[in-house]
Amino acid sequence: MKNKGLLPVSFGLEAFLFVFLMAHTANGDVSYSFPEEMKRGSVIGNIAKDLGLDVNRLSSRKARIDTEGNRKRFCDINLNTGELTVAERIDREGLCGKKSSCVIKQELVLENPLESYQIDINVKDINDNSPLFKRDLIKLEITESAVKGARFVLEEAHDADIGTNSVQNYILARNEYFELTVTAKTTGKFYGELVLQKELDREQQHEVRLIVTAVDGGTPPRSGTVAIHVTVLDANDNAPVFSHAVYKVSVPENSPVDTVVVTVSATDADEGQNGEVTYEFGHVTENEMTIYSLDPNNGKISLLGSLDYEEESSFELPIQATDGLGMVSYATVVIDISDINDNAPIIVIKSLNSPIPENASPGTEVGIINVQDRDSENNGQVRCSIQQNAPFKLVPSIKNYYSLVTTGELDRELVSDYNITITATDEGSPPLSSTKNIHFTVADVNDNPPVFEEQNYRANVQENNKPGSSICSVSATDPDWRQNGTVVYSLLPSDVNGAPVSSFLSINGDTGVLHAVRSFDYEQLRSFKVLVLARDNGSPPLSSNVTVSVFITDENDNSPQILYPSPEGNSFMTEMVPKAAQGALWSPR
Ligand SMILES: *[C@@H]1O[C@H](CO)[C@@H](O)[C@H](O)[C@H]1NC(C)=O
Ligand SMILES: *[C@@H]1O[C@H](CO)[C@@H](O)[C@H](O)[C@H]1NC(C)=O
Ligand SMILES: *[C@@H]1O[C@H](CO)[C@@H](O)[C@H](O)[C@H]1NC(C)=O
Repeated sequence: MKNKGLLPVSFGLEAFLFVFLMAHTANGDVSYSFPEEMKRGSVIGNIAKDLGLDVNRLSSRKARIDTEGNRKRFCDINLNTGELTVAERIDREGLCGKKSSCVIKQELVLENPLESYQIDINVKDINDNSPLFKRDLIKLEITESAVKGARFVLEEAHDADIGTNSVQNYILARNEYFELTVTAKTTGKFYGELVLQKELDREQQHEVRLIVTAVDGGTPPRSGTVAIHVTVLDANDNAPVFSHAVYKVSVPENSPVDTVVVTVSATDADEGQNGEVTYEFGHVTENEMTIYSLDPNNGKISLLGSLDYEEESSFELPIQATDGLGMVSYATVVIDISDINDNAPIIVIKSLNSPIPENASPGTEVGIINVQDRDSENNGQVRCSIQQNAPFKLVPSIKNYYSLVTTGELDRELVSDYNITITATDEGSPPLSSTKNIHFTVADVNDNPPVFEEQNYRANVQENNKPGSSICSVSATDPDWRQNGTVVYSLLPSDVNGAPVSSFLSINGDTGVLHAVRSFDYEQLRSFKVLVLARDNGSPPLSSNVTVSVFITDENDNSPQILYPSPEGNSFMTEMVPKAAQGALWSPR
């Protein structure tokens, strides 16, 4: 179903000198590399071309970009060209912070047949943030006994960008006393150390002012500066030492506020005020500040806010310990959040074909259901089921999609609508589930002919009846809807004694009441049959017919006649002839 074929790797060199690279990856069906902060409407790539989809059918297949749950939709698809374009501002730092890889997952969904393709957009960093020191001025106290070559760690500058766009170097403005050495840590971060070049003499100069500039590696580079005021002291001093360089802990999401996550500790060999250590965070984001607090005195990191694994599954908090003389050391706290089954599955009806014609064959797809669960692993594994007593089932389709299909014949005349309940349950413990009702109506098809209430009808008419009098009525019913169930009656043409039946009887098409057209004479005609047709107004119409047997009963209307000689004045014969009668039946004797 999915296009797993090899696609050409296409390069487009845009004005910004960014390389737009598209290739299939193991995760997404198609993936693009695209810089952050591009204008809305910028073309990321031609996804129709890259997936081998027919551009002309995108519209009819309801091609659209979907995202799971309440995640943002960053892209649009242009249904005319098949191009994937930017729909929302893509800010790498806002989305992924310091993560080295920032991938936005979007989904292209098409119907008819249902297909879904995962789109991975690898957001490339641009150098849109400058290095920033936590404060403008760093106060440092150094004893005059410090020897040449003594090193003093410089507080790091923070740059929201990553890789070479983050801090790559520190530069110290020329001065008499210090040089700066810059070293790369294994984490890829750079840190600087002030190295004493010339011994300090408090009596000669009690303060030294320095300017340090942090520079990133972007093109063009951006920078940030800090002033360092070094106070020259008399006493000896030692920097604090953390018990670990990295504190690694795991905390379940939804842990209550005030939970202590970890306690950090640094010791300082100095006595008194010089050895008093206080703790604080290094550069943390605003969000991190609303979640964690660090007690400056005892080093306890506790929860201020709630942890949501689905929002952020791990944190890396830089911390620093400062002693009474302002000597600083650094450590990192890594907090992994563990998932709790706190999200019930969500059932989304992606499309619904209601009403369904009642003649839909078993297996007809009537809807597409998507289930989502924001939790991870088993907590996010969802099973979907449907109530048993309706002729529908769920067929797993691609990924988290199900087709709702009919399992049997539908009959609107028996059940004209369905209200079915779909249940989705995840595999967490305890599991969470949710339900959704889907309401369907069944559309009529003209599949029932009218049916007469009687197998056959019988009418007794006394001769000499008045023309136009009703002689009996027939009735047929049709359970179909509206015109498909509207019955119209008519007489089927036939001959009675050589004359068309319409000269004997007529029928009211709406009511089924039969009328005599003429007065009958038992002596001429004792009985006859007609076929009445009941037809519905469907297209094509359905019909059935029934026999109506008409019996004419005798009345004593003939005096005995003397055949010869004939009586005077043959008057009654003329009186008996009704106006409507046709000559064919009544031939004068
Ligand atoms: C379907 O059934 C549910 C629960 O049985 C009910 O709440 C809902 O109103 C019904 N919907 C319709 C359209 O009948
Ligand atoms: C009658 O049946 C036909 C199919 O036989 C269908 O197309 C039409 O919609 C039905 N009419 C109504 C009013 O349901
Ligand atoms: C009358 O009904 C019978 C069976 O019900 C059918 O075979 C016959 O063709 C019908 N006659 C007409 C004229 O429709």
